[in-house]
Amino acid sequence: MAAFLFVTDLDHTLVGDDHAMAELNYALGAHRHQHGTTIVYSTGRSLTSYRQLKAEKSMLDPDVLIVSVGTEIYLANSDVSDSKWSKVLSANWDRDQVVAIASQFNLTPQPTSEQRPFKVSYFLSDAIAAEILPQLQALLDAEDLDAQLVYSGSKDLDILPRRANKGKAMTFLREKLNISPDLTVACGDSGNDLSMFCDRAERGIIVGNAMPELLTWHYANPSCDRYLATKTCAAGILEGLYHFGFLS
Ligand code: GLC
Ligand code: MG
Repeated sequence: MAAFLFVTDLDHTLVGDDHAMAELNYALGAHRHQHGTTIVYSTGRSLTSYRQLKAEKSMLDPDVLIVSVGTEIYLANSDVSDSKWSKVLSANWDRDQVVAIASQFNLTPQPTSEQRPFKVSYFLSDAIAAEILPQLQALLDAEDLDAQLVYSGSKDLDILPRRANKGKAMTFLREKLNISPDLTVACGDSGNDLSMFCDRAERGIIVGNAMPELLTWHYANPSCDRYLATKTCAAGILEGLYHFGFLS
């Protein structure tokens, strides 16, 4: 069995079914021990919010932690995020101006802990998202702000530098670790995971409980490198890892 790069979202993907997560942890922990597989968590949560979850749930220690929707990468238990990645994201990013433009809309800011140097986050209801999102993107573009909108779970809006998202962070890490795309697999359930599946050479696993925003895109863009599991959360991840032959 070959070592692989395992990248997973947390909420409603790895975390959501404690029993299934324990089974997956056992298989992945053994694989890391025997073959040197690398375990990466990639979450929309901030470092603070990740630590709260980690304290509540029985999770493996990851080799690399990517938080705040791909905008911060923490290698090998470091408390400081990867400075090369921050430098990439700093180019052409004007956070204050992004906030000034977003405040022209009637958006509810998320808690302070989730506002990060390269991530501005709001709550936005599904009912008005389709109307607001194009208007907001148009204003950001008109001001030449290199920003993108990521809408997840029918409620969360993240504004990020265009160079940042979970997919771009995964590529940066994969290249840094020198692991080939066919030995890399990403798992997710919602809109902020889409960038890990879109136009990619890596393998993808979408768990059976995925959100409509991701499922709709998946059905419209079929790929044999992407597997939609029938089972939910960690059980769906295990199903996908067997499907691709990462585990046997
Ligand atoms: C997590 C983060 C939140 C973000 C959401 C979607 O819930 O805490 O800030 O908006 O993921 O990316
Ligand atoms: Mg999720």
